[in-house]
Amino acid sequence: MIVEVTDDPTALAEAAAARVARCAADAIRARGRFTLALAGGGTPRATYQRLAARPDSVDWTRTHVFFGDERCVPPDHPDSNYRMAREALLDHVPIPPVHIHRMEGERDDLGVVAREYEATLRRILDAEGEAVPRLDLVLLGIGDDGHTASLFPDVVQLGRGPELVARILSKAKGARLTLTFPALDAARNVVFLVAGDGKKEVIRTILQPGPDGGGAPPFPAAEVRPTDGELVWLLDRAAASGLRAD
Ligand code: 6PG
Repeated sequence: MIVEVTDDPTALAEAAAARVARCAADAIRARGRFTLALAGGGTPRATYQRLAARPDSVDWTRTHVFFGDERCVPPDHPDSNYRMAREALLDHVPIPPVHIHRMEGERDDLGVVAREYEATLRRILDAEGEAVPRLDLVLLGIGDDGHTASLFPDVVQLGRGPELVARILSKAKGARLTLTFPALDAARNVVFLVAGDGKKEVIRTILQPGPDGGGAPPFPAAEVRPTDGELVWLLDRAAASGLRAD
């Protein structure tokens, strides 16, 4: 596990964009393409804008974009993770439209949508058989309750598979679609992007738990453990401010 601390959210976006570019170059060199799952919420927007500002830093013609989770709203809704990614990044880079794999959260048949999305993951990642498809890079955020993607504490058991994509109904956040822990843990690289003072307690509890494990219930984000991949916590100084220096 790598913990990298940057001065501020701008530096975090710069460091995150550089990591995406490195993962892309490694993946394309090794396998001829780059498969990336984007995080939702607000933090990643600045990273996506940095990537859009330097469209040559990634070979988008060889990139497939998936989503870590999606709200159950239309794709042009202000809450849509797809809309945020489209406006900040996807409309500004030469990615073939068929390489953008949106979670269709607006549909009524979310169980079917989840199964279809898993089939797409398997098809695009050539893992139609038993193997769990391995994304090259998954970007994730974390909530102050320790959720990641849409794996919320009150529904975390729905994220434990074997499905790779789940529809969940969280008391706090309503209906969502999300990649599950098996899909996240199969990734070659997982990078959490965390900024702001509001995340310092959850970061401290996860990265420096007390002797009894901190006493707090295991946060869903803490359950993300890549099986054979690199886990990176990319924090700004405010989010890292609860960590001891040792
Ligand atoms: C979502 C995200 C969610 C997000 C965290 C952090 O759909 O909202 O998948 O997991 O990453 O809630 O959000 P912020 O970056 O806005 O703090």
